[in-house]
Amino acid sequence: MNSNDYITFALGKGRLSSKTMELLSQIGIECEEMKDKDSRKLIFTNEEKKVRFFLSKGPDVPTYVEYGSADIGVVGRDTILEENRNVYEVLDLGFGKCRMCVCGPESARDLLRHHERIRVASKYPNIAKDYFFNRKHQTVDIIKLNGSVELGPIVQLSDVIVDIVETGSTLRENGLTVLEEICSLSARMIVNPVSMQLKNDRIKEIVEKLKGLL
Ligand code: PRP
Repeated sequence: MNSNDYITFALGKGRLSSKTMELLSQIGIECEEMKDKDSRKLIFTNEEKKVRFFLSKGPDVPTYVEYGSADIGVVGRDTILEENRNVYEVLDLGFGKCRMCVCGPESARDLLRHHERIRVASKYPNIAKDYFFNRKHQTVDIIKLNGSVELGPIVQLSDVIVDIVETGSTLRENGLTVLEEICSLSARMIVNPVSMQLKNDRIKEIVEKLKGLL
């Protein structure tokens, strides 16, 4: 099998991937094999449509797309900004809408206002660094965490966090609040630059059909 005959999609495991498959099915791209939830397979093919799909950890999606293992990826804008890979962002898919924010207890507001050297915990150290150093010109110490970041200020690991806020309920239930908004986020489609040239017709067709839906 020559991978050039196929359009390969890399999808982040979880909510984004099921939303993406829903959307793709509306433009006639489906994958029966993927619907078997008990399957341990990592890559799924629709021979008739000449498409392949694989699921990976979200932050790895831009990596697979940059190296050309996948032609197309679907991933949150947060991951695109954090990973900063050489890929083309071609479409805002409109779902997975949320915000990247600086959050903390109300008492941290003054620390931000006075540009104090605070500690910032985040799963997104690059986004946090760019925001504080380049946009706010505030020197801070960044601590990388891998999840449940809201714990940071509660257990005095950090003064604030940089994290995704969707409904705001995680913040509320932990006595934290949004202090500053960094940017808005949603699911994006990304494309490998070489695939964009070599498979231009097929990729363009997919993008145009999706645009028509959105
Ligand atoms: C994300 C994010 C927040 C939460 C925000 O975490 O990091 O913790 O969702 O959503 P909300 O505003 O609707 O409460 P996720 O569930 O991905 O898990 P994690 O904390 O392990 O990263």
